[in-house]
Amino acid sequence: MLTDPSHKYRPFPPIALADRRWPNRTISQAPIWMSTDLRDGNQALFEPMNAERKLRLFRTLCGIGFKEIEVAFPSASQTDFDFVRRLIDEALIPDDVSIEVLSHAREPLLRRTVEALHGARSAIVHIVNATSLPFRELVLGMSRSEVLAMAVDAVRLVKQLTADQPQTQWRLQYSLETFTATEPDFAVEVCDAVSAAWGATPDNKIILNLPASVETATPNVYADQIEWMHRHIARRDSVILSVHPHNDRGTAVAAAELALMAGAERVEGCLFGNGERTGNVDLVTLALNLYTQGVAPGLDFSDIDKVVGDFEACTGLSVPPRQPYAGELVFTAFSGSHQDAIKKGFAARQPDSVWNVPYLPFDPADVGRGYDAVIRINSQSGKGGIAHLLESHYGVVLPRRLQIEFSRVVQQHADRHGGEIGAESLWQLFAQTYLDLAKPLSYRGHQLFEHSQGQGIQLQIEWDGQPQTLTGVGNGPIAAAVHALHGLGGAVSVRNYEERSVGSGGDAQACAFVELAAANGTTAYGVGMDANIVTASIKALISGCNRLATGAI
Ligand code: KIV
Ligand code: ZN
Repeated sequence: MLTDPSHKYRPFPPIALADRRWPNRTISQAPIWMSTDLRDGNQALFEPMNAERKLRLFRTLCGIGFKEIEVAFPSASQTDFDFVRRLIDEALIPDDVSIEVLSHAREPLLRRTVEALHGARSAIVHIVNATSLPFRELVLGMSRSEVLAMAVDAVRLVKQLTADQPQTQWRLQYSLETFTATEPDFAVEVCDAVSAAWGATPDNKIILNLPASVETATPNVYADQIEWMHRHIARRDSVILSVHPHNDRGTAVAAAELALMAGAERVEGCLFGNGERTGNVDLVTLALNLYTQGVAPGLDFSDIDKVVGDFEACTGLSVPPRQPYAGELVFTAFSGSHQDAIKKGFAARQPDSVWNVPYLPFDPADVGRGYDAVIRINSQSGKGGIAHLLESHYGVVLPRRLQIEFSRVVQQHADRHGGEIGAESLWQLFAQTYLDLAKPLSYRGHQLFEHSQGQGIQLQIEWDGQPQTLTGVGNGPIAAAVHALHGLGGAVSVRNYEERSVGSGGDAQACAFVELAAANGTTAYGVGMDANIVTASIKALISGCNRLATGAI
């Protein structure tokens, strides 16, 4: 059992920001997106992507609409170096896309990084060094001033190396790795020093990236840190403030959203939250969260299944069924009450109206999904879902009381067999229950004739395997058929009759629903289908009699 953890874990100390403004803000425009799928995401795979997979994912990212893509860590591996070269040498980078590459703040690595980018049209050199006290002490063995000098020297070197290559449009990104654990005054000092060293201006902005390299606090704490930086860094108009939230506490999406409210303008992350440990922030969720607030995200996920397919093929990871917007089950309701509400929401929907379907916060069609999977049937489902499936797949609209009756049949079946019941199996169950009943009574044919009391009928049936002809009269064919069936000895009466057509044109069939009551008050529905409406009605009567006779209800 987990006992008191207070001696082992301490809450992360929040920054002092009494007059925080972000809680009153909303996000009204999309941030600049930066995909680090091919760098942070790639680093975190069991088996990093080979060049072909990287290229496929790069193309997918371009197709989605990313304009900034971190493609590699070229000083760290030859594969990454070669990949950057291939993109440039084979002119594989769209004109409106900037590639970005990561480097630690050390001279040989920076030289190799700039070498990798030679000849690129537009490139972002991404320098990173850790700034927090634990890292300074434990990992780097450096003082504050040494860390600061390392950052500034790195920026100066990149400035000098890139100045020789004016054919490339160079930009600089500086990341304070472990920013969230860095003392705020030191974070500002480093940021201001590197933007001064780069000579950032409003026309040549520096990207200052403030990662939650490890997520250690609630998202509001991150938002306070971002707002504090937003309000304290110098040359604010010459800086693009970027965030890079990791997901260790499972709240990276919230952290990114609150950070945008707090002044961040750019978000780095990966598709479906790939990345080190629990991953980077999921850019698909972030973008589509914006979309559902009526804000154009600037990224195109209108064919989410293709994105999922490319992602899975390239990374070897799989997108789980509950993944927001993309998982197999995220637009599916199994529960009866949810299905009922969704069915009503769909029925009330007007073209071009605001989306307002209960339990379905998002229109599956917007990510290229159909409505087929919205309602799926298992033992938890109810009449609404069952009726919806029969209607949407087979065009059969059940009367409400029949929905209730048939849902009991489905429930028993599901309890007996477990698992899901697909549309086809549901239809088979419906047909077995109502349409295919031939015992003890089956229909063979009928003839209508004029009668002084109204309508006469001669009905050919089989009763317990014996052919018989029954005669009846009534004020219409159904009443006449009921009267004829009384000839078998039982007395049934019609409680309810409805008829609908199924299909259209030459294939149209009449579907008749008859609710019968036996002399003892028991009721049961019968259903009949036929191209001829009278035949459909008589078949429905016979179906209902069989259900009463066999006690199937
Ligand atoms: O998580 C992190 O801090 C990083 C940096 C390289 C930005 O990935
Ligand atoms: Zn990262």
